Amino acid sequence: MTAENSIISAHAQTEIDHWVAKFPEGKQRSAVIAALHAVQHDNKGYLTEELMEAVAEYLDMPAIKVFEVATFYSMFETKPVGRRSISVCTNIACLLRGGEQILKHIEDRLEIKVGESTPDGKFYLKCEEECLAACNNAPMLMLDHKYYENLTLDKVDEILDTAGKEEG
Ligand code: FES
Repeated sequence: MTAENSIISAHAQTEIDHWVAKFPEGKQRSAVIAALHAVQHDNKGYLTEELMEAVAEYLDMPAIKVFEVATFYSMFETKPVGRRSISVCTNIACLLRGGEQILKHIEDRLEIKVGESTPDGKFYLKCEEECLAACNNAPMLMLDHKYYENLTLDKVDEILDTAGKEEG
């Protein structure tokens, strides 16, 4: 289903086609979440209006429907953010086991507040999570899509050091 004039990369188109093929003929719009993921991944972790319009065209659906999906789900970003996304749980189990101190430690270390990105574009301190269902191993955070549990401040430092190095 390659669209040569699309601003969606060939790689992302291949990924989108892979997901479109999983749905019945004519139901290609069901692949919109996967398509937005592919395009966002290709664009340093965030979506632009042009990219959302391109996804709409690619999947033959109204642009407003794509905007609705992109702005509803928290895994999509519609503004530039740091490449590594950090979410710290501060709900009750994590709160009782030091979640707020973990968050404060990250804020102090990265010199940003929740919702901000570091000036070098490495980290995005996305949000305070309202429980990610890992309460038995509280406190925890999510870096990109990976869980880190039973955190201590030292462990957090290790996680940030490693992630920072991976970013160069
Ligand atoms: S309260 Fe933090 S994972 Fe449930």
